[in-house]
Amino acid sequence: MVYSDPAMRGSYAVLILIACLAWLSTLSPAQNPGQKAVATTREAGLAAWQQVFSVLTYPRCINCHTATNYPQQGDDRHRHLFNVVRGPGGKGVAGLNCATCHQSANADSTGVPGAYNWHLAPLSMRWQDRSDNILTSPDVCRSLNDRSNNGSLDGPGILRHHETEPLVLWAFQPGRHRDGTERSLPPLTHEQFVAATRIWVDAGMPCPQ
Ligand code: HEC
Ligand code: HEC
Repeated sequence: MVYSDPAMRGSYAVLILIACLAWLSTLSPAQNPGQKAVATTREAGLAAWQQVFSVLTYPRCINCHTATNYPQQGDDRHRHLFNVVRGPGGKGVAGLNCATCHQSANADSTGVPGAYNWHLAPLSMRWQDRSDNILTSPDVCRSLNDRSNNGSLDGPGILRHHETEPLVLWAFQPGRHRDGTERSLPPLTHEQFVAATRIWVDAGMPCPQ
């Protein structure tokens, strides 16, 4: 379009200016909290991840998420007694299957912990290295984000796993040692752990650098 009349051109310029100002006003501080909330959520997500990480790497969990061909035991994560080994599918070997000893519930009289389908997590889900050093928080975080490693779980899948998986639930009710003393508990309650997982998942599963 060509506006030959200079006065006409001037009033269009004013209209455009007003339109721009109106648009700018939609970006005013009233709208900014939205953007800020995203930033806070990532921050909250990272803080929540540290809490999740503190549970994942607690002995009750990581004793099954080993990098070796055997499970670990106790708070010092020593090698499992009787030379128990991983075996096919993490279920031990013939004659020494996990299920030979581990039932679907804790057997406190003998000190054998138990939960449904007790077996070792696959090597792709290890959270320690072969020298028993716990992987760093960014490494474990990236591993949980990698669906080719983690049993194809997406965020909601991991949340559900933390909420309902019997082996996860067991860690919060781990029963007694043979001598009658109670196994130690992860640093969060199950409820707190699920809440932290939810915040982390809602924030898009951010990982520290
Ligand atoms: C011969 C019996 C037996 C077999 C087979 C066996 N376990 Fe165990 N397991 C035990 C006993 C007993 C304990 C308790 C030791 C203790 O608390 O001092 C135990 C404890 C554990 C713990 C330690 C829990 C903790 O946080 O301290 C894990 C993990 C574990 N077993 C995994 C496995 C896996 C995985 C398999 C199969 C690959 C397996 N076990 C096979 C008897 C067995
Ligand atoms: C008795 C062994 C055992 C214990 C104890 C255990 N896990 Fe696992 N975990 C497994 C197995 C086996 C799998 C693989 C399940 C599958 O493939 O369906 C797994 C898979 C997972 C996964 C999905 C894999 C991934 O890398 O994203 C998460 C998350 C997980 N476990 C969290 C936990 C947490 C948290 C605890 C403690 C509160 C825990 N586990 C305790 C055996 C165990």
